Amino acid sequence: MTALPSVALGDDLHVSALGYGGMSLSDVYGPVDDETALATLTHAVDSGLTFVDTANIYGAGRSERTISKLLATRRDEITLATKFGIAGGAIGARAVCGRPDYVREQIDLSLGRLGTDHVDLYYQHRVDPDVPIEETVGAMAELVQAGKVRHLGLSEATADELRRAHAVHPIAAVQTEWSVVSRDVESSVVPTAAELGVGFVPYSPLSRAWLTDAFAPEQIGDGDGRPKFPRFAPENLTANAGLRAEFLDIAEGAGLTGAQLALAWLYTRADVIGIRIAPIPGSRFPAHVDEWLPAVTTRLDAATLALLEPFAARIRGDRSFDRNWTSQRGDAAA
Ligand SMILES: NC(=O)c1ccc[n+]([C@@H]2O[C@H](COP(=O)([O-])OP(=O)(O)OC[C@H]3O[C@@H](n4cnc5c(N)ncnc54)[C@H](OP(=O)(O)O)[C@@H]3O)[C@@H](O)[C@H]2O)c1
Repeated sequence: MTALPSVALGDDLHVSALGYGGMSLSDVYGPVDDETALATLTHAVDSGLTFVDTANIYGAGRSERTISKLLATRRDEITLATKFGIAGGAIGARAVCGRPDYVREQIDLSLGRLGTDHVDLYYQHRVDPDVPIEETVGAMAELVQAGKVRHLGLSEATADELRRAHAVHPIAAVQTEWSVVSRDVESSVVPTAAELGVGFVPYSPLSRAWLTDAFAPEQIGDGDGRPKFPRFAPENLTANAGLRAEFLDIAEGAGLTGAQLALAWLYTRADVIGIRIAPIPGSRFPAHVDEWLPAVTTRLDAATLALLEPFAARIRGDRSFDRNWTSQRGDAAA
């Protein structure tokens, strides 16, 4: 196995500086069979991406079950993160649940699918507006006491929710969308995490493939979730095509692919802000994983950063179908 640099998130949780996004082990952005999915996951871990991310809902448990096949023989090599909290429904109409009894039920279901006795990082996937976060995190903290969970995380929490949760139990990581074209987290969530010593796990760091060389709107087939996001509405894909071409030109000028520039931008920006990160791109294919690797040690110069600075303001279409579904609800209230 190749070793990648390690990063300390919060609560003394050490992970590989690049993780693997296990949503791609299901058919979310195009079909993948279980054999290919397991081969890609195995390749990612062999390449040093030992921080593996999943959730109870990815492929209705399929992602966790695929990961279990690798855990069966290599549990000690993997820093395993999973999530609870999205209680079902279609994208755009999803229920959330943060009740303590649900927390206790879901960890046991995830551990059963994963075939392990503990997860290293357990995230609340979405904050439940009807359950005080102190109650949910209190139940999560009991799982730490019980040995089922080693560290706690939150996904798409606002800065205020992060502070409240962190007061109940140390939060090791916040996982929220962050990329060169999705920078709303920089206004309050990232600074708060940095202040509290909480690490950050940027999800969709390639903006769901939009920042990669290979993306083409016609690849989005029936059943692909992306058209639910305004950025992937046909009119916005058309409006943003020139911006994407500019991004790929900048990548080429820097001697990088689009995916590499996207990841290198995150590492560079995190260094500037002073936050410890471990991005978790997803892919169905080993060759795409290989493409990410050089980015882990690539940092951009000031001129390249300056060229990329306006991209988030220029892109058309929000990253989410509903700002209340993301940490942007905290910015709206601020
Ligand atoms: N907490 C949350 O609410 C939340 C939400 C979304 C995602 N996540 C997590 O974050 C992970 C990553 O996010 P994501 O999957 O949404 O987005 P992403 O990593 O930004 O993009 C994944 C897409 O990029 C493509 N891709 C990756 N590398 C490529 C390359 N080198 N060349 C061309 N295409 C490439 C993949 O297609 P191929 O399969 O064809 O390579 C896939 O369609 C997920 O797997 C999941 O674990 C969490």
